[in-house]
Amino acid sequence: MDSLQVSAIKDGTVIDHIPASRLFDVMSILNLHSCQEMITFGTNLDSKLLGKKGIIKVANRFFLDNEIDKIALIAPNAKLNIIKNYEVVEKRLVEIPDTIVSVAKCFNPKCITNHETIPTKFMVVSKKPIELKCMFCEKITTEDEVVIKNDRDE
Ligand code: CTP
Ligand code: ZN
Repeated sequence: MDSLQVSAIKDGTVIDHIPASRLFDVMSILNLHSCQEMITFGTNLDSKLLGKKGIIKVANRFFLDNEIDKIALIAPNAKLNIIKNYEVVEKRLVEIPDTIVSVAKCFNPKCITNHETIPTKFMVVSKKPIELKCMFCEKITTEDEVVIKNDRDE
């Protein structure tokens, strides 16, 4: 329980071991700006694994695999803890899907997806390190280049 720097929750999901710099990207991917439940988070917390990490706690929300797996793009070491009545009843790691729709931007400035409002679509050609191949322009976007699309930008 290294993260009780952020209060324990009664029921819900704790997303732990997020790279500190990607905390707000994870919030965007999960659309937490429109979530009405109690959300608590911390970032730049000390972590043996990551140096500095972020953590997000969402009360009364239990995410689907396909909602959560998208965060593997930017937080491959993230761990989910399902909390029921204050106890951790399940732990899950995130898994990178084979295709990624909508979440990330194509790194190619000339790509049509950067000029028209069409959803991006990538094949995951490498999982470690992450490499995404754009289905429109075929350019590769690497792990460090992944920029998360924010619905509110459009
Ligand atoms: N947690 C919480 N509320 C609870 C129970 C746990 O917010 N009622 C959080 C803890 O603070 C921790 C995460 O859920 O960040 C996992 O809890 P636990 O398994 O007890 O911690 P660790 O053993 O440190 O987890 P791990 O090493 O698997 O990351
Ligand atoms: Zn492209």
